[in-house]
Amino acid sequence: MSTVTPPTRGLEGVVAANSAICYIDGEKGVLAYRGIDIHELADNSTFEETCYLLWFGRLPTRAELKDFSTTLARERKLDAGIISLLRQAPKHALPMDVLRTTVSALSYWDPEEKVNTREANLNKSIRLTAQLAMIVAYYDRIRKGRPLVEPDRALSHAGNFLLMLTGKPPSKAAERALDVALILHADHELNASTFAARVTAATLSDMHSAVTSAIGALKGPLHGGANEAVFRILEAIDASGADPVEYVKGMLAQKKKIPGFGHRVYHTEDPRATHLRQMSRELGSSSGESKWFEISRKIEEFINKDKKLNANVDFYSASTYHTLGIDLDLFTPLFAVSRISGWTAHVMEQLDDNRLIRPRAEYVGPAYLAPYVPMDRRQ
Ligand SMILES: CC(C)(COP(=O)(O)OP(=O)(O)OC[C@H]1O[C@@H](n2cnc3c(N)ncnc32)[C@H](O)[C@@H]1OP(=O)(O)O)[C@@H](O)C(=O)NCCC(=O)NCCS
Repeated sequence: MSTVTPPTRGLEGVVAANSAICYIDGEKGVLAYRGIDIHELADNSTFEETCYLLWFGRLPTRAELKDFSTTLARERKLDAGIISLLRQAPKHALPMDVLRTTVSALSYWDPEEKVNTREANLNKSIRLTAQLAMIVAYYDRIRKGRPLVEPDRALSHAGNFLLMLTGKPPSKAAERALDVALILHADHELNASTFAARVTAATLSDMHSAVTSAIGALKGPLHGGANEAVFRILEAIDASGADPVEYVKGMLAQKKKIPGFGHRVYHTEDPRATHLRQMSRELGSSSGESKWFEISRKIEEFINKDKKLNANVDFYSASTYHTLGIDLDLFTPLFAVSRISGWTAHVMEQLDDNRLIRPRAEYVGPAYLAPYVPMDRRQ
């Protein structure tokens, strides 16, 4: 007889951990990190400060933030072995796959590879945050045959990413837009990739394994991969001159889901989408290329009305990233560049009060005891 209750599909509504990191009210559209509303953080904070908040549980003082930013800047370096691994990747390799494999390899050169204490994991969180941004930017330059660009200690994390990616110091507007996007993507409670990270960490594996698991989970189009899928649709509409509403109606007629819409937890507007919509609009008009925002808006109005679905974090991040000059296949890696802060915060929280995560499955296979039929009697 079974000893477990049948699960809801996809563990919907199941509370699987206690956590003091991220608060979500899906009915009211509220998201807060350590109790602080995401709108306040988006308006006033920086990605560096948000990392501190997630990892230390409170906002830093001015001196603490300065020290922390200096440490992050000091860790903005990659071992020659990692650069060589990036150079060896075939030029057609997807940046998300390169990121997953390279992050796994970072452990070879991590000075605390075999240490799983809180202190070591905090150091690893800082290192991984610095390194992930470099890996994404450097792989893009390597695949395009461009020279690597040294980080600049005077720039923020967002500014450094843009500098290392494009080779040019970013405008203040671009740096701030990316900074806000990084804040908005930093954490989101037990989303699929964070859950994957916590499951791996709970076996007392290590931080690099947990983050590698998370990157694999983030890649899928039902999770972080959705932002790339959104832009593919915008591009297809632009290239064919199709009417955006007719285009998505066609997708729905084929029973396809529209990427960038719907959410397991939010039943109202995703608060991150509010900022990204505004950012997409502003960047579109300041760059003189507002067509991506306009196509997006038409799709959103139709899907809101017709399907009663709201845009999620991925919908307007697509046009925002494109307008910032970021290639389509870097959108999901860029999500990881931010979410590393949340993944590592959750790994540390998991280890602070760890127990192996090992649920049960409701067995629905052939009845026990099925016979083992010898080979010569099988049909
Ligand atoms: C986010 C997502 C995976 C949540 O999935 P979920 O909680 O399992 O919800 P379901 O897929 O069961 O969807 C519930 C209903 O809404 C519909 N729906 C959900 N998202 C939809 C979308 N983006 N486009 C069209 N219909 C959608 C489903 O078809 C389903 O309808 P039905 O009950 O008539 O079959 C889902 O909304 C989705 O696939 N969205 C597109 C991918 C995306 O943007 N992912 C990023 C999330 S931040």
